[in-house]
Amino acid sequence: MRAMLCEEFGEPSVLTMGEVDEPVPGPGQVKVEVHSVGVNFPDLLLVAGKYQAKPSFPFSPGIECAGIVVELGEGVDELAVGDRVMCDTGYGCCSEYVLAYVHRTYKLPDAMPFDVAGGFTITYGTAYHALIDRAQIQPGEVLLVHGAAGGVGLNAVEIGRLLGAMVIGTVGSDAKIEIVKKYGADHVINYNKENFRDLVKNLTDGRGADVIYDPVGGDVFDQSMRCINWNGRLLVIGFASGRISEVKANLVLLKGCQVMGVIWGAFANMEIPKNRANFATLFDWVEQGKINPHISAYYPLEATGEAIELLQSREAKGKVIVRVRD
Ligand SMILES: NC(=O)c1ccc[n+]([C@@H]2O[C@H](COP(=O)([O-])OP(=O)(O)OC[C@H]3O[C@@H](n4cnc5c(N)ncnc54)[C@H](OP(=O)(O)O)[C@@H]3O)[C@@H](O)[C@H]2O)c1
Repeated sequence: MRAMLCEEFGEPSVLTMGEVDEPVPGPGQVKVEVHSVGVNFPDLLLVAGKYQAKPSFPFSPGIECAGIVVELGEGVDELAVGDRVMCDTGYGCCSEYVLAYVHRTYKLPDAMPFDVAGGFTITYGTAYHALIDRAQIQPGEVLLVHGAAGGVGLNAVEIGRLLGAMVIGTVGSDAKIEIVKKYGADHVINYNKENFRDLVKNLTDGRGADVIYDPVGGDVFDQSMRCINWNGRLLVIGFASGRISEVKANLVLLKGCQVMGVIWGAFANMEIPKNRANFATLFDWVEQGKINPHISAYYPLEATGEAIELLQSREAKGKVIVRVRD
């Protein structure tokens, strides 16, 4: 089969098209004919050799996709050949076929196109789990979302708004303000131009944000600890800035706040029924038109490197999709 391959760690441009054997599903796995792949920040880290998982060479990036089940591994009875699905796989989706564990594979609503479904699993799964399971956000609370135009960010803005929060988004360029407002933010701050810490305090009569959703880390995390409300929840989502956040325990104490780790992939393994229920709700929301995934760019399989570069350059808005088949 055709696959975009990483044979050495480096920039996304190291990826080249190659031929590898089709994978064979093991127990609890399905083989998926890949139609579309969602690009995620971890793809950049995987190819650079900076991700926690380091697959052996050659490997394909692509940690989530949508497609059709074409073969079942031993013991799989929840899915059937021919099912339209989305899944997350750890890596390997930028290929014609990939293996997915059945508990990380979700049957698609009939009307959901592959082009949309390919980029749904990870970012919506993460935003839902973070805001609802972890922060238990309440209507009327103030939600501050950093990197609000990015994959996990824009989904959090949308879900926060749907749940009745007052949403403040931060972005790194003015070009991203409009999309974040369109997805429901009441206020959008360009944190490269303005001090979000002071603005959040001003917008909340000095109280600060009740829930802070942080996929950026570094300085953004540090400043977030200074504008969190009493009883606030700071959700540690990721470190796109490149610097892992460090928690100052004195601030946690003084603010009476909680710093909460969020790792959706582990949750999906450890709390399978709960995760399935989350996806049932997400799919209901899709069918009712309550959420509407934003795809800003499509690339063919052979341009996977360029698709990942779009995230690296911070120009992507919402999701970027690699099309493997029409
Ligand atoms: N915890 C979990 O379960 C989980 C699940 C999925 C993803 N994540 C993590 O969440 C983070 C975001 O992932 P994503 O797929 O949503 O990525 P993405 O679409 O590229 O969004 C990341 C956002 O971070 C901002 N950013 C700030 N500094 C950056 C830098 N130096 N380089 C690139 N972007 C920078 C960018 O917004 P501005 O340019 O507007 O600042 C960008 O929109 C990653 O760290 C990822 O590993 C965590």
